[in-house]
Amino acid sequence: MLLRRAGWPVTANIAARAASMTGAAARRRGAPSRTASTAKLTVTDLANDCTTDYDVPLGENLMEFALEADIELECACEGQLSCSTCHVVVLSDHFETLPEPEEEELDMLDLAMGLTERSRLGCQVVMTPELDGLHVRIPDPMDPDRES
Ligand code: FES
Repeated sequence: MLLRRAGWPVTANIAARAASMTGAAARRRGAPSRTASTAKLTVTDLANDCTTDYDVPLGENLMEFALEADIELECACEGQLSCSTCHVVVLSDHFETLPEPEEEELDMLDLAMGLTERSRLGCQVVMTPELDGLHVRIPDPMDPDRES
């Protein structure tokens, strides 16, 4: 189940967040690529064969941001640590700087398809200034072991 479903508390400032993305439209308008309250995130979505840069508000986790930015990251349990559908693979060196996963996250990761040594659950990755430049891959559910 994708995050885009009725009842999810979509914030009213989606347009503002979209404007803060590092997109061509923002650059054409001369908008700054990001502010001090955001961190850069790159998402490689293997199922859709695309890599996109975003500016993510600090304090927001990847699941929350995926909903707002229309990223196809499934999050069946809405961040309750009872699924592994928000599985992402951390491609950048930021993996080592992430807080250690809790036991519940490790238990759910054991169920993730395409699990790697750099796997995390997106709902547990909270953007901080230290994660500026974070690059994650969303595995292809049709071919979860594919790496590129
Ligand atoms: S959304 Fe279910 S564990 Fe992250």
